Amino acid sequence: MKVCVIGLGYIGLPTAALLANRGYDVHGVDIVQDVVDTINQGKIHIVEPDLDTFVHAAVNSGKLKADTKPTKADIFIIAVPTPFHKSGYDIPTPNIDYVISATKSIAPYVKEGNIVILESTSPVGTTEKVAEVLQENGVNTDNVYIAHCPERVLPGKIMTELVENDRIVGGINKKSTKKTAEFYRSFVTGEVLETDSKTAELCKLTENSFRDVNIAFANELSIICDKYGIDVWELRELANRHPRVNILYPGVGVGGHCIAVDPWFIVSDNKDEAKLIKTARVVNNYKTEWVIEKIKNEALKFEMENKKKPKIACMGLAFKPDIDDLRESPALYITRRLINENLDILPVEPNIEKFDEFRIIDYTNAIHNADIIVFLVAHKEFKNLEIDKNKKVLDFCGVLK
Ligand SMILES: NC(=O)c1ccc[n+]([C@@H]2O[C@H](COP(=O)([O-])OP(=O)(O)OC[C@H]3O[C@@H](n4cnc5c(N)ncnc54)[C@H](O)[C@@H]3O)[C@@H](O)[C@H]2O)c1
Repeated sequence: MKVCVIGLGYIGLPTAALLANRGYDVHGVDIVQDVVDTINQGKIHIVEPDLDTFVHAAVNSGKLKADTKPTKADIFIIAVPTPFHKSGYDIPTPNIDYVISATKSIAPYVKEGNIVILESTSPVGTTEKVAEVLQENGVNTDNVYIAHCPERVLPGKIMTELVENDRIVGGINKKSTKKTAEFYRSFVTGEVLETDSKTAELCKLTENSFRDVNIAFANELSIICDKYGIDVWELRELANRHPRVNILYPGVGVGGHCIAVDPWFIVSDNKDEAKLIKTARVVNNYKTEWVIEKIKNEALKFEMENKKKPKIACMGLAFKPDIDDLRESPALYITRRLINENLDILPVEPNIEKFDEFRIIDYTNAIHNADIIVFLVAHKEFKNLEIDKNKKVLDFCGVLK
């Protein structure tokens, strides 16, 4: 069986490499020539544990080849980005341009009996749109099986979770669901659950919106606690002793390309209905602004008391602990905003060595030289740090607790 994987990023490349190692003939496609060249040398362009071993083995065995153009195959998997349009809209709207163009690119190669799978996280109705685009581009889809199978892997554990996670498969009709589920059962040890394409699409968006709403609760609570002078970490621990309460950790907002993005796919299509989901997005974004105001106020206080501007260490830039991913990161946004306001910032990110925009400072130096130390991300390096008692510390992520 030949599989053509369109988009060789965090999702497409691990999937392609895994399938190649399971005996499928895999033709990986990416529009970026550098990505294609790197993979064809058996190397990788993204950071993910074990992925290099899988890619190296797959390329060496001849089972994985990368190219900038698709080819004929039995199964096509689309794993291209689905970001949102940010500016010019009061509510960010999904951008499925990459999915449409990937679909157009495979249309000349799709034939009767093929399976076309959309793995990209997509607004409801996108899988049906894929079918429409194929038809508009000359494909008779009567006997083409078209389905959505959303990806739920956790970066850092992708190679394990690709195999072990339960998967949702939703076809545009029953035969598409069955055929596609059969394919996933050939390499997934988790359960493969069958549904229709719209349910599968909304299921993925629901999972991330659920996380967003729950984080918003924790973030809102942290602001309320601050007003009362109550330690939110202590409060959270006490409240969670209730057998049916499980409050998540507050932080400086919500980042990454999933939880901070996917809820908008529901909201933009359900402006009147998705009140709670929209509010969660607003609350989580507001938390980031609130953190910025807190830091600025502390800086002003320091300046008035000491007649000089403080040096402020911004501890962590990634969107969550112990990774190097900066996509939609509130910590990076906060640091940029403070730099743009001419504050004297010492940016720290132990998971990144070099950054084009500004110089990253080693965390021990930053702690030593800063007047105000602001913890934005709970990286493991920041736990149990010895900090001079005279320094002002703002711990927004509970790393010192
Ligand atoms: N990364 C994750 O942890 C994760 C988890 C779950 C779901 N997802 C979803 O999976 C999808 C892919 O995400 P990702 O993180 O792999 O993105 P990515 O940006 O890492 O990779 C996408 C790749 O697709 C390529 N591409 C874009 N248009 C193309 C086209 N027309 N033809 C061929 N290649 C094309 C890009 O060059 C890029 O290399 C998104 O919808 C995302 O929301 C990602």
